Amino acid sequence: MDKATILVVDDTPENIDILVGILSSDYKIRVAIDGPKALALAQKSTPDIILLDVMMPGMNGYEVCERLKQDPLTCHIPVIFVTALAETADETQGFALGAVDYITKPVSAPVVQARVKTHLALYDQKRLLEQQVKERTKELEETRFEIIRRLGRAAEYKDNETGLHVVRMSLYARLLAIQSGLPDKYCELIYNAAPMHDIGKIGTPDSILKKPAKLDEPEWDEMQRHAEIGAEIIGDHHDPLLEMARRIALSHHEKWDGSGYPFGVSGQDIPIEGRIVAIADVFDALTSIRPYKKAWTVADTMALIESESGKHFDPELVEHFKQIVDEVTKIRDKHHET
Ligand code: C2E
Ligand code: SIN
Ligand code: SIN
Ligand code: SIN
Ligand code: FE
Ligand code: FE
Repeated sequence: MDKATILVVDDTPENIDILVGILSSDYKIRVAIDGPKALALAQKSTPDIILLDVMMPGMNGYEVCERLKQDPLTCHIPVIFVTALAETADETQGFALGAVDYITKPVSAPVVQARVKTHLALYDQKRLLEQQVKERTKELEETRFEIIRRLGRAAEYKDNETGLHVVRMSLYARLLAIQSGLPDKYCELIYNAAPMHDIGKIGTPDSILKKPAKLDEPEWDEMQRHAEIGAEIIGDHHDPLLEMARRIALSHHEKWDGSGYPFGVSGQDIPIEGRIVAIADVFDALTSIRPYKKAWTVADTMALIESESGKHFDPELVEHFKQIVDEVTKIRDKHHET
């Protein structure tokens, strides 16, 4: 492993010489003779630990420590104050500023070596732990996304053997969100949440879903329940992705003019993700074969979507969707049923 780097800060050359003499065989040493130089060096080379003199003309050690702790680039670096015996009364202040230890002058070689070694080891462990937590968190997030994606597909298997409908319509929804100028994070969220829009179809009898004809009224009432069943399955969590998935499940069949279900809300009262998914969902439903219908051409589908602008669909979103129809068609061709 590389040698750790120590930044020694002291305005007195003799003190620097003493510390360098004690530490230079085991560590890389950098030296600063005043506060501003110490801050500049700490930012530039990010040492693994800092030995900081307290009494210095101009900016004293406390001030240096305070600034180090305020800067995200340097706030994690352990600071050990090196101070004359007479100032030990100020130790409280040093610890309050975030120092990890004190060494008193005149320094003894074994004490300096032991303290530096201990705090470097602690710092290493802390960094390793943080790294592990980061990796674990990332793994968990990926697992969560994967489960959510598969849950969305599971629902789709009930009326579409391949689950490709959710793949396509999530891609359309993300594209439409991007085209509408929504933030990157939002576009990724809608991409990951949209696959669950029809999860409630798990609760719909196959006799209805697979009926090769128009639904009668009781069947249609039952069919419409998939929006609320979906919201129930997704549940009520403090998680941005699941919260959005719930809103989508609940609102993807609402219509701009208020004639949709389950609540009949209208316009901007329909969550924007519900309005986006409505267009993505209908585009894909129409251009696909269903047990109850043939596949429509893209031209016929776009004609219907445009004629429903301001009725079924948010007119602003329809305009954005028209801009991306070529890209949407490419996605459709890439993920078509075989
Ligand atoms: P889905 O098949 O995924 O269709 C999603 C949405 O696409 C439909 O929501 C509707 O807005 C639109 N859509 C699909 N096919 C057509 C069509 O032929 N003409 C027009 N104008 N729009 C169409 P909707 O109507 O709320 O239906 C929700 C779900 O209910 C459908 O999801 C499907 O699973 C089921 N469903 C609807 N109508 C029938 C039907 O006549 N027979 C059967 N078996 N199922 C139906
Ligand atoms: C010095 O400035 O190095 C002497 C005073 C002290 O270190 O506390
Ligand atoms: C149906 O075909 O039964 C659904 C009516 C609709 O598209 O709103
Ligand atoms: C909105 O946030 O509702 C406006 C965006 C749109 O409808 O295109
Ligand atoms: Fe639906
Ligand atoms: Fe759908």
